Amino acid sequence: MKPPRLPRALTLGLAALTLTALACNGDDSGESESAGPDPDFPADYPASYVEVRNCRGSGDHDLNNIRILADPSALGPYQGRNAPFPEGAIVLKEEYDFADQSCNGPVKQWTVMRRLAAGSSPDTLGWSWQRVDAQRSVVDVDAPRCIDCHTGCGVPPEGYEGTCAVP
Ligand code: HEC
Repeated sequence: MKPPRLPRALTLGLAALTLTALACNGDDSGESESAGPDPDFPADYPASYVEVRNCRGSGDHDLNNIRILADPSALGPYQGRNAPFPEGAIVLKEEYDFADQSCNGPVKQWTVMRRLAAGSSPDTLGWSWQRVDAQRSVVDVDAPRCIDCHTGCGVPPEGYEGTCAVP
């Protein structure tokens, strides 16, 4: 009697699964493995972003402890509040566990704002909004709760062009 042969479709399926598993075991290069959008900030952002608000609790961001950083093009407008944010400017919030009061532990998630072209997107206050988990997967984009709440601090002194923190 001949040994039973696996149906061809099954063989191909197993090969595909093996390839997928290999791909997922690849090195952690910071590239997103998922089909979703890439995070708006690079994995090595600490090398170029500057802290604009140091570690403290945030009653508005789920009571997490937070730090705020700006990329080089957001830095001047964020701190000076007298020039518009240029397109592509990034403001990044690192969120740490409620108990991590010095922000020394692992980042739990990031929330990030990326400035869009002037006048292109009044519905989102001129920004793209992302929440990114600890694995650098984008969890949501332009969530209404982000935009609704940041609308409320659109007016100085609290708000400046959709940002909410007085630096
Ligand atoms: C309940 C209100 C509220 C919600 C909801 C909210 N934010 Fe904020 N956000 C704030 C406030 C207030 C600050 C500034 C003070 C602080 O950090 O606690 C802030 C700060 C930030 C900052 C730092 C820059 C700045 O000064 O504004 C970013 C980036 C940010 N939020 C992104 C997001 C994103 C993305 C979401 C949705 C996933 C979101 N926020 C949801 C209220 C909110």
